[in-house]
Amino acid sequence: MDEDSRTTPPDDREAKLWGGRFERPTDRLVEAYGASIAFDRRLYGEDIAGSAAHARMLARQGIISRDDLDAINAGLDAILREIEAGEFEFREDREDIHLNIEAALAERIGEPARRLHTARSRNDQVATDLRMYVRAMCDEASEGLMELRSALLDLAEREAETVISGYTHLQRAQPVLLAHHLLAYEEMLTRDTGRFRAARVTANVLPLGSGALAGVGYPIDREFVARELRFPEIAANSLDAVSDRDFVVEFHAAAALTMVHISRFAEEIVLWASAEFGLVQLDDAFSTGSSIMPQKRNPDVAELARGKSARTIGNLVQALTLLKGQPLAYNRDLQEDKEPLFDTIDTLLDTLEVVAAMVPTLRFDAARGRAAAGGDFALATDLADHLVQRGVPFREAHEAVGALVAECERSGRTFEDLTLDDYRAAHPAFGEEVLSLDIEASLAARSAYGGTAPERVAEQREAARARMLTEPA
Ligand code: ARG
Repeated sequence: MDEDSRTTPPDDREAKLWGGRFERPTDRLVEAYGASIAFDRRLYGEDIAGSAAHARMLARQGIISRDDLDAINAGLDAILREIEAGEFEFREDREDIHLNIEAALAERIGEPARRLHTARSRNDQVATDLRMYVRAMCDEASEGLMELRSALLDLAEREAETVISGYTHLQRAQPVLLAHHLLAYEEMLTRDTGRFRAARVTANVLPLGSGALAGVGYPIDREFVARELRFPEIAANSLDAVSDRDFVVEFHAAAALTMVHISRFAEEIVLWASAEFGLVQLDDAFSTGSSIMPQKRNPDVAELARGKSARTIGNLVQALTLLKGQPLAYNRDLQEDKEPLFDTIDTLLDTLEVVAAMVPTLRFDAARGRAAAGGDFALATDLADHLVQRGVPFREAHEAVGALVAECERSGRTFEDLTLDDYRAAHPAFGEEVLSLDIEASLAARSAYGGTAPERVAEQREAARARMLTEPA
């Protein structure tokens, strides 16, 4: 495009709402570059609610008339209905959601619309919209987390008896109950829920009434607006209120960490579904085939959940980086806060939903779990503990059992092949009970609080159920 066709106003170009001091129209490139309506239209509900509350306050304070308020209310209602019916025309030349709604309102009701922006700036307006939106999304995230937590708990109840090998360094370590393993994720996700609740508290502060940056010179009533929009607190510093997005960062942090937890679980599903582990079989509805290898059943949902955690981490870093160089107060950079936030919200909510739907379809092979739990000298710690119970210092017991493992490996035997004499050759303190040591005994022995003993895990299940039932919605 040459200079002329970009800036010469065709007849149908309307004046900008902020255009008073400008003699030439905005370059079309600039218009396209700066427009956020393609994504910030998502905030229409918050923007309309915020404008309606602002208008009510202006009328109560005698700053606008009752008639103006009635016209504004009717106009905003009509716009809301149009947007929800998909009939509203969002215009790029009107830049963002705030100007789109304000200009549409002016088309409908004329002059009263031009009074709505009294004692307000788009800077405190967008901060208010975004805080209301993030607050609602914290609730959605908590609900999604609840679905996944209860799916994990249901599975833990269904598989209450299933034994698997626990791992450290991905080496078979000690037998654990599958329910114990699943509930570890329920614990992580419960803490994530707490982080969304905390992010909600940070977001739940009203910026409106801060003006562009320095505050407002009209006799406004911020308490009234706060009550109308259900903000328990009012921002105390106008410069801070229009320019910080720490509440966005906190949301990203909670979301990224939730996705990292889900990613770890997803990685387990990928491993467990492999022939090497053979612990879990994926349902047809939650796996895909290969277009070339007819035998394949791929764990795509788990892989995608693991993969999508990456973008939420990236989005967290984007939000931090966006803020770090900005002087007070509002800068247009802040418009860049939205797309990554929306992306993280969509990614998080979709992931919670699909993983929660997949969890109940997992079919475990209890025999494989048990074989892995008992293999590779998994009961070695229990043998050492047996010696300790008979007065042997733990380090000495560890050494003796280590030597026994080495001897078994040399002679191609497992612990089950050993006689009491073999044990006593390794350490004279071994007693007869070693011969009856098994997975059940190993599990039962781990009975300190938090351990994998069946009665402790049953308590963990009950505690998880109880907190799900009592958690604030
Ligand atoms: N679309 C803008 C944003 O998202 C709204 C605020 C614009 N304020 C301004 N002074 N240009 O940040």
